Amino acid sequence: QQILVINGPNLNRLGKREPAIYGSSTLEDLQKDLEKEAAELSLNVTFKQSNSEGDIIDWIHDSENVHQGIILNAGAFTHYSYAIRDAIASVDVPVIEVHLSNVHAREDFRKESVIAPETIGQISGFGFLSYKLALQVFRSK
Ligand code: DQA
Repeated sequence: QQILVINGPNLNRLGKREPAIYGSSTLEDLQKDLEKEAAELSLNVTFKQSNSEGDIIDWIHDSENVHQGIILNAGAFTHYSYAIRDAIASVDVPVIEVHLSNVHAREDFRKESVIAPETIGQISGFGFLSYKLALQVFRSK
């Protein structure tokens, strides 16, 4: 199975960005961790990050007939991007929404996910483990 991992805005700043919330490990550390986990689960992962909504939309479109699942941390776009929501709805690829932090335990604006209704589920609050759990969901499919 080919799984696409998409990280959205500001996640390239992991390690430097609000470490009390997001931890001190970097995006590169996350990629290494997930590549290891994926190998153990006999999955293939492709890893992408962008701060631009359009890139994320294009990658979701391009995943059709290529990837069997997408793990998406859309960052703050989660809370207001109807365009990303529509992109997910437009393809026949299952998407799992992930967050490092527990979005339900933070500011009110983070409690709403406009993309969640188009995903197969949301995993929030477990740091890198949020992504690893998503890999396990795809492994079991
Ligand atoms: C985040 C939570 C979002 O609310 C925030 O805007 C992010 C990161 C998370 O992984 O916890 O950029 O998606």
